[in-house]
Amino acid sequence: MRILITGGAGFIGSHLAEAHLEKGDEVYVIDDLSTGSLKNIDEFQENEDYKARFFFSHDSILNHDKMLELVGICDQVYHLAAAVGVLYILEHPFESIRTNIQGTEKVLELCNKFKKRVLITSSSEVYGKHLHAPLVETDNIIYGPSSKFRWSYAATKLMDEFMALAYHRTNGLEVVITRLFNTVGPRQTGAYGMVIPRFVGQALRNQPLTVHGNGKQTRTFTYVKDVIEALMGLMASLEATGKVFNVGGTEEINIESLAKKIIGMTGSDSRIEFIPYEVAFGKDFEDMQRRVPDIQKIKGCIGFEPKTNLHGILERVIYDMSRNLGASSR
Ligand SMILES: NC(=O)c1ccc[n+]([C@@H]2O[C@H](COP(=O)([O-])OP(=O)(O)OC[C@H]3O[C@@H](n4cnc5c(N)ncnc54)[C@H](O)[C@@H]3O)[C@@H](O)[C@H]2O)c1
Repeated sequence: MRILITGGAGFIGSHLAEAHLEKGDEVYVIDDLSTGSLKNIDEFQENEDYKARFFFSHDSILNHDKMLELVGICDQVYHLAAAVGVLYILEHPFESIRTNIQGTEKVLELCNKFKKRVLITSSSEVYGKHLHAPLVETDNIIYGPSSKFRWSYAATKLMDEFMALAYHRTNGLEVVITRLFNTVGPRQTGAYGMVIPRFVGQALRNQPLTVHGNGKQTRTFTYVKDVIEALMGLMASLEATGKVFNVGGTEEINIESLAKKIIGMTGSDSRIEFIPYEVAFGKDFEDMQRRVPDIQKIKGCIGFEPKTNLHGILERVIYDMSRNLGASSR
């Protein structure tokens, strides 16, 4: 099978590429390296078993001719390329909207042209600022005003879902939509606001762990390998076609407790420093207080449940980041 992964040099995309290479597939990746990195995929190009089956294009999904070629030769498409991360969205507002709207439209248009099955990665952000938990796929959506720019990410991802569903309804295109909740694991960078790699990096350097707001906001975290199992399971399930699925863990923790847990697990001397949102992100920011998925739908469809708990996730991230920190300081 030939698999195209847009954004395949990114955090989740590179793990997905690896899983398909392990399975024996040919893997094609297109990535403009805006937040992804060659480091994430270098090992595939050097691995004797993988290198003849791994093809990388350093290009944008907005490049029509390149995408025409890639979608044309592949059997299935995973669409992960996107502007990701609150900080990145706030710093690159126009570019982010273009990638998430026009880029997804390009992917869907070409998948429809060649009738290729496509899975798109939406986000838990689309739910907006609910206070209740767990969040069910049929829940209403509540956003702040357009002056609060963080909602642009949610709005663009929601438009991606509408576009995918429209192609399914009007053209019979085989689409699957996944709403990923906070995904964590090796290769994730803390540079764009992702909380666990940022906290672990700060703890390993004995720097203060910077908690935004009062730290009472909660999240759930999913290990990246569990997410890959979910994505591949949904891609393989015809029953999943035309549907929207939450993909996430269910162990809720508030961010202050998370910071304390990371300090304890790393044996760090760090303290916790609370930073008001307006200082971290500017005055037009607002946060979501809770984000917990209901995962009955994906469980019913493919039997998926996350296997790695928060402690196990943190152990893996701390191990991986300590090794990298050790390597970079040698
Ligand atoms: N990590 C999470 O917790 C999370 C949560 C919800 C949704 N998601 C979604 O999962 C997907 C993957 O996210 P990730 O966490 O791996 O982030 P990531 O930033 O590591 O991956 C995104 C990749 O897309 C690439 N990219 C961006 N614009 C591009 C363009 N125009 N053309 C080609 N490549 C482009 C980036 O260089 C990067 O490699 C994204 O669609 C994201 O919205 C992730």
